[in-house]
Amino acid sequence: MILKGDLMKTIRTSIIGFGAVGQGVAEVLLQKEKYLKNIGLDIKVVAIADSKGAALDPDGLDLLKVLSQKRARGKSKDKGTVGSEKLTGLEIIKNIDHELVIETTPTDIETGGVGLVNMRAAFEHGRDVVTSNKGPLALKYRELSGIASENGSRFKFEATVGGAMPIINLIRDVLAGNDIISIEGILNGTCNYILTRMMEEQASYEQMLAESQELNIAETDPTYDVEGIDVACKLVILANSIFGMDANYKDVDVTGITKITPESLMLAQDDGYVVKLIGEVKKDLIRVGPRLVPVGNPLAVGGTLNVASIQTDLAGTVTITGRGAGSIETASAIISDIIAIYR
Ligand SMILES: NC(=O)c1ccc[n+]([C@@H]2O[C@H](COP(=O)([O-])OP(=O)(O)OC[C@H]3O[C@@H](n4cnc5c(N)ncnc54)[C@H](OP(=O)(O)O)[C@@H]3O)[C@@H](O)[C@H]2O)c1
Repeated sequence: MILKGDLMKTIRTSIIGFGAVGQGVAEVLLQKEKYLKNIGLDIKVVAIADSKGAALDPDGLDLLKVLSQKRARGKSKDKGTVGSEKLTGLEIIKNIDHELVIETTPTDIETGGVGLVNMRAAFEHGRDVVTSNKGPLALKYRELSGIASENGSRFKFEATVGGAMPIINLIRDVLAGNDIISIEGILNGTCNYILTRMMEEQASYEQMLAESQELNIAETDPTYDVEGIDVACKLVILANSIFGMDANYKDVDVTGITKITPESLMLAQDDGYVVKLIGEVKKDLIRVGPRLVPVGNPLAVGGTLNVASIQTDLAGTVTITGRGAGSIETASAIISDIIAIYR
């Protein structure tokens, strides 16, 4: 049954940034259109921007057409744009009537980048924001959530930590009423893959980094992942949003995985341990570094999986595991944030 009339809410949205995640969101909106209408949500994407241009339609874009155009043009020599309109994401946010900005531009943890400018503008125009972009939150969480509440805007960012693995909303909604004592876990799938494969193959860090790059698990420049900076940003988002801290990723004590040798992994294995890059946040402590985890411990997950153990006062320890990245997986977190805002 599709709800009609007063029961159906139309949400006009923009997607700013149309790469892996932005396209994943468009795909999921298409795939789940009927379900969303069943729960009373008519999500109309009225504008999409990438770095070179935009596609607009006040009545709602044909997402199938936009996706196939972007993909066809992406293969062309000019690495073409999503549409022929010469509007930037920021101009869309400022000038086009809509309720929701889905912000999926690249993460910039030095300045916050275009994402920070977009989010500020969205809130100043009273729009809600759902994002997967860690940079602005790792640098300016308090400022952004302040402007959002001053303007009556909603701000949700489940996709910035752990991809499809629900953690922020799990803590805020399902574990509501609990004091959160600590959160620890594996929040970077690339590092977990490299460490798992080093152990399986008794191979060097360099060999397994090369393998993960061939498989597109690691970026061409993997520094943020392997130096622990990506995890540090996610911990800061948890510290600020769950523990009410006012932290910056530069406050995190960070060690990456680049110095780990296969010999040290073998020694650990002989004693019944695996080595994992563990991020940890609790009151007044945020750190990430390699740690020994007993084989069989819930944190000892392999491959690209993420995992988090949340220690609470009432519920005890709750452990979740899931896919920390991927276009559709990350879109899953974005869609759940959208539903949480408007349902
Ligand atoms: N991929 C994942 O699994 C994952 C998981 C969790 C979080 N994230 C985060 O989600 C965000 C998006 O990731 P992604 O993998 O989709 O990145 P991506 O594939 O590199 O896509 C980024 C998109 O942003 C566009 N863009 C760049 N500068 C722009 C600007 N000034 N205005 C408008 N659009 C601009 C790019 O345009 P062009 O198409 O023209 O290049 C591209 O469409 C990042 O912040 C990332 O850290 C990603």
